[in-house]
Amino acid sequence: MAHPKILLLSGSTRSGSYNTRLVDLATKRLAERDAEPTRISLADYPLPIYDADQEASRGAPEEAVGLHRLFLAHQGIFLASPEYNAGVSPLLKNAIDWISKVSDDKHPPLAAYRNRVFAVSAASPGPYGGIRGLIALRQVLEIGLGALVIPEQVAVPRADDAFTAEGELADERAAGFFDAMTKRLVDEARRYVAP
Ligand SMILES: Cc1cc2nc3c(=O)[nH]c(=O)nc-3n(C[C@H](O)[C@H](O)[C@H](O)COP(=O)(O)O)c2cc1C
Repeated sequence: MAHPKILLLSGSTRSGSYNTRLVDLATKRLAERDAEPTRISLADYPLPIYDADQEASRGAPEEAVGLHRLFLAHQGIFLASPEYNAGVSPLLKNAIDWISKVSDDKHPPLAAYRNRVFAVSAASPGPYGGIRGLIALRQVLEIGLGALVIPEQVAVPRADDAFTAEGELADERAAGFFDAMTKRLVDEARRYVAP
Protein backbone atom coordinates (compact mmCIF):
# COMPACT_ATOMS: atom_id res chain seq x y z
CA MET A 1 0.00 0.00 0.00
CA ALA A 2 1.80 3.08 -1.25
CA HIS A 3 -0.20 5.84 0.38
CA PRO A 4 -1.51 4.72 3.77
CA LYS A 5 -4.39 6.75 5.12
CA ILE A 6 -3.64 8.40 8.45
CA LEU A 7 -6.24 10.17 10.58
CA LEU A 8 -5.00 12.97 12.85
CA LEU A 9 -6.76 14.64 15.74
CA SER A 10 -5.96 16.79 18.73
CA GLY A 11 -7.24 16.26 22.26
CA SER A 12 -7.66 20.04 22.53
CA THR A 13 -9.99 22.37 20.65
CA ARG A 14 -8.50 25.47 22.31
CA SER A 15 -7.62 28.25 19.91
CA GLY A 16 -3.83 28.32 19.77
CA SER A 17 -3.60 24.78 21.13
CA TYR A 18 -0.04 23.45 21.25
CA ASN A 19 -1.32 19.94 20.64
CA THR A 20 -3.17 21.04 17.53
CA ARG A 21 0.15 22.50 16.38
CA LEU A 22 1.63 19.01 16.74
CA VAL A 23 -1.24 17.70 14.62
CA ASP A 24 -0.48 20.35 11.99
CA LEU A 25 3.20 19.42 12.02
CA ALA A 26 2.46 15.69 11.79
CA THR A 27 0.07 16.34 8.90
CA LYS A 28 2.92 18.06 7.06
CA ARG A 29 5.45 15.29 7.83
CA LEU A 30 3.03 12.54 6.79
CA ALA A 31 2.23 14.23 3.49
CA GLU A 32 5.99 14.47 2.82
CA ARG A 33 6.21 10.72 3.38
CA ASP A 34 3.55 9.99 0.78
CA ALA A 35 0.90 9.11 3.30
CA GLU A 36 -2.64 10.40 2.91
CA PRO A 37 -3.39 12.45 6.03
CA THR A 38 -6.90 13.39 7.14
CA ARG A 39 -6.89 16.06 9.83
CA ILE A 40 -10.06 16.49 11.85
CA SER A 41 -11.09 18.56 14.88
CA LEU A 42 -13.13 17.17 17.75
CA ALA A 43 -14.94 20.54 17.70
CA ASP A 44 -16.80 19.16 14.68
CA TYR A 45 -17.86 16.10 16.70
CA PRO A 46 -19.45 17.52 19.86
CA LEU A 47 -20.32 14.67 22.21
CA PRO A 48 -22.11 14.60 25.55
CA ILE A 49 -20.22 13.01 28.41
CA TYR A 50 -20.67 9.26 28.02
CA ASP A 51 -23.92 8.18 29.62
CA ALA A 52 -25.04 4.56 29.71
CA ASP A 53 -28.73 5.47 29.99
CA GLN A 54 -28.49 7.65 26.90
CA GLU A 55 -26.70 4.88 25.06
CA ALA A 56 -29.38 2.37 26.09
CA SER A 57 -32.27 4.60 25.07
CA ARG A 58 -30.89 6.35 21.98
CA GLY A 59 -27.69 4.53 21.04
CA ALA A 60 -24.40 6.29 20.39
CA PRO A 61 -24.68 9.87 19.08
CA GLU A 62 -24.21 10.30 15.33
CA GLU A 63 -20.93 12.15 16.01
CA ALA A 64 -19.54 9.02 17.71
CA VAL A 65 -20.74 6.90 14.80
CA GLY A 66 -19.01 9.32 12.43
CA LEU A 67 -15.73 9.11 14.36
CA HIS A 68 -16.02 5.32 14.45
CA ARG A 69 -16.46 5.29 10.68
CA LEU A 70 -13.44 7.55 10.24
CA PHE A 71 -11.23 5.37 12.45
CA LEU A 72 -12.25 2.33 10.38
CA ALA A 73 -11.39 4.17 7.18
CA HIS A 74 -7.74 4.76 8.16
CA GLN A 75 -4.74 2.46 8.59
CA GLY A 76 -3.03 4.80 11.03
CA ILE A 77 -4.19 7.27 13.68
CA PHE A 78 -2.12 10.09 15.17
CA LEU A 79 -3.30 11.58 18.46
CA ALA A 80 -1.80 14.65 20.12
CA SER A 81 -3.27 15.30 23.52
CA PRO A 82 -2.78 17.65 26.45
CA GLU A 83 -2.03 16.21 29.86
CA TYR A 84 -4.66 17.15 32.43
CA ASN A 85 -3.64 16.38 36.00
CA ALA A 86 -1.32 13.66 34.74
CA GLY A 87 -4.13 12.05 32.75
CA VAL A 88 -5.77 12.14 29.33
CA SER A 89 -7.71 15.24 28.30
CA PRO A 90 -11.40 14.63 29.04
CA LEU A 91 -12.34 15.71 25.50
CA LEU A 92 -10.23 12.95 23.97
CA LYS A 93 -11.04 10.33 26.61
CA ASN A 94 -14.77 10.91 26.14
CA ALA A 95 -14.44 10.55 22.36
CA ILE A 96 -12.40 7.36 22.79
CA ASP A 97 -15.03 5.96 25.18
CA TRP A 98 -17.96 6.76 22.88
CA ILE A 99 -16.18 5.28 19.85
CA SER A 100 -15.54 2.12 21.88
CA LYS A 101 -19.29 1.74 22.36
CA VAL A 102 -20.27 2.06 18.71
CA SER A 103 -21.11 -1.24 17.07
CA ASP A 104 -22.58 -2.34 13.77
CA ASP A 105 -23.42 -5.59 12.01
CA LYS A 106 -20.29 -5.56 9.89
CA HIS A 107 -17.56 -5.15 12.48
CA PRO A 108 -16.61 -6.87 15.74
CA PRO A 109 -16.54 -4.82 18.97
CA LEU A 110 -13.60 -2.39 19.20
CA ALA A 111 -12.90 -2.77 15.47
CA ALA A 112 -12.03 0.93 15.34
CA TYR A 113 -9.01 0.24 17.54
CA ARG A 114 -7.83 -2.99 15.94
CA ASN A 115 -6.10 -3.65 12.61
CA ARG A 116 -4.60 -0.20 12.46
CA VAL A 117 -1.70 1.53 14.18
CA PHE A 118 -1.61 4.48 16.56
CA ALA A 119 1.00 7.11 17.40
CA VAL A 120 0.69 9.48 20.36
CA SER A 121 2.27 12.82 21.13
CA ALA A 122 1.78 15.69 23.57
CA ALA A 123 2.81 19.27 24.19
CA SER A 124 2.62 21.30 27.38
CA PRO A 125 3.95 24.62 28.62
CA GLY A 126 5.16 22.66 31.66
CA PRO A 127 8.53 20.93 32.13
CA TYR A 128 7.36 17.35 31.38
CA GLY A 129 5.69 17.99 28.04
CA GLY A 130 2.66 15.86 28.89
CA ILE A 131 4.62 12.61 29.13
CA ARG A 132 2.49 11.39 32.05
CA GLY A 133 -0.67 11.95 30.05
CA LEU A 134 0.86 9.91 27.23
CA ILE A 135 1.45 7.01 29.60
CA ALA A 136 -2.22 7.20 30.58
CA LEU A 137 -3.31 7.46 26.93
CA ARG A 138 -1.13 4.50 25.98
CA GLN A 139 -2.71 2.47 28.79
CA VAL A 140 -6.21 3.27 27.55
CA LEU A 141 -5.39 2.40 23.94
CA GLU A 142 -3.21 -0.66 24.48
CA ILE A 143 -4.62 -2.29 27.60
CA GLY A 144 -8.16 -0.96 27.48
CA LEU A 145 -8.80 -1.30 23.77
CA GLY A 146 -6.18 -3.71 22.41
CA ALA A 147 -4.71 -1.13 20.06
CA LEU A 148 -1.17 -1.22 18.70
CA VAL A 149 0.68 1.99 19.65
CA ILE A 150 4.17 2.49 18.24
CA PRO A 151 6.87 2.95 20.90
CA GLU A 152 8.09 6.21 19.38
CA GLN A 153 6.31 9.12 21.03
CA VAL A 154 7.18 12.78 21.45
CA ALA A 155 6.35 14.95 24.45
CA VAL A 156 7.19 18.62 23.92
CA PRO A 157 7.92 20.60 27.12
CA ARG A 158 7.87 24.44 27.36
CA ALA A 159 5.56 24.38 24.38
CA ASP A 160 5.03 28.15 24.51
CA ASP A 161 8.60 28.44 23.25
CA ALA A 162 9.00 25.19 21.32
CA PHE A 163 7.66 26.06 17.87
CA THR A 164 9.20 28.21 15.16
CA ALA A 165 7.09 30.72 13.23
CA GLU A 166 6.72 28.04 10.52
CA GLY A 167 5.28 25.58 13.04
CA GLU A 168 8.39 23.38 13.19
CA LEU A 169 9.91 22.17 16.45
CA ALA A 170 12.76 24.53 17.26
CA ASP A 171 14.80 21.92 19.11
CA GLU A 172 16.70 19.83 16.57
CA ARG A 173 16.67 16.70 18.69
CA ALA A 174 12.91 16.93 19.28
CA ALA A 175 12.37 17.56 15.56
CA GLY A 176 14.39 14.42 14.80
CA PHE A 177 12.33 12.32 17.21
CA PHE A 178 9.12 13.71 15.71
CA ASP A 179 10.30 12.82 12.22
CA ALA A 180 11.23 9.30 13.33
CA MET A 181 7.80 8.89 14.93
CA THR A 182 5.93 9.89 11.77
CA LYS A 183 8.18 7.66 9.65
CA ARG A 184 7.47 4.64 11.85
CA LEU A 185 3.75 5.42 11.80
CA VAL A 186 3.72 5.42 7.98
CA ASP A 187 5.87 2.27 7.79
CA GLU A 188 3.59 0.40 10.19
CA ALA A 189 0.38 1.70 8.59
CA ARG A 190 1.54 0.29 5.24
CA ARG A 191 1.26 -3.20 6.71
CA TYR A 192 -2.51 -2.90 6.99
CA VAL A 193 -4.94 -3.44 4.17
CA ALA A 194 -6.43 -0.22 2.85
CA PRO A 195 -10.05 0.04 4.02
C1 LIG B 1 -7.43 21.02 34.35
C2 LIG B 1 -6.05 21.16 33.81
C3 LIG B 1 -5.06 20.32 34.24
C4 LIG B 1 -3.77 20.42 33.73
N1 LIG B 1 -2.82 19.53 34.13
C5 LIG B 1 -1.60 19.55 33.56
C6 LIG B 1 -0.64 18.54 33.88
O1 LIG B 1 -0.88 17.63 34.63
N2 LIG B 1 0.56 18.60 33.25
C7 LIG B 1 0.87 19.59 32.34
O2 LIG B 1 1.98 19.58 31.80
N3 LIG B 1 -0.02 20.56 32.04
C8 LIG B 1 -1.25 20.56 32.62
N4 LIG B 1 -2.17 21.51 32.29
C9 LIG B 1 -1.78 22.60 31.37
C10 LIG B 1 -1.95 22.20 29.92
O3 LIG B 1 -0.82 21.45 29.53
C11 LIG B 1 -2.06 23.47 29.07
O4 LIG B 1 -3.26 24.14 29.38
C12 LIG B 1 -1.97 23.17 27.59
O5 LIG B 1 -1.79 24.39 26.89
C13 LIG B 1 -3.19 22.44 27.08
O6 LIG B 1 -2.96 21.95 25.79
P1 LIG B 1 -3.36 22.76 24.47
O7 LIG B 1 -2.36 23.90 24.37
O8 LIG B 1 -3.24 21.79 23.39
O9 LIG B 1 -4.77 23.29 24.64
C14 LIG B 1 -3.46 21.43 32.79
C15 LIG B 1 -4.48 22.29 32.36
C16 LIG B 1 -5.74 22.16 32.85
C17 LIG B 1 -6.84 23.08 32.33
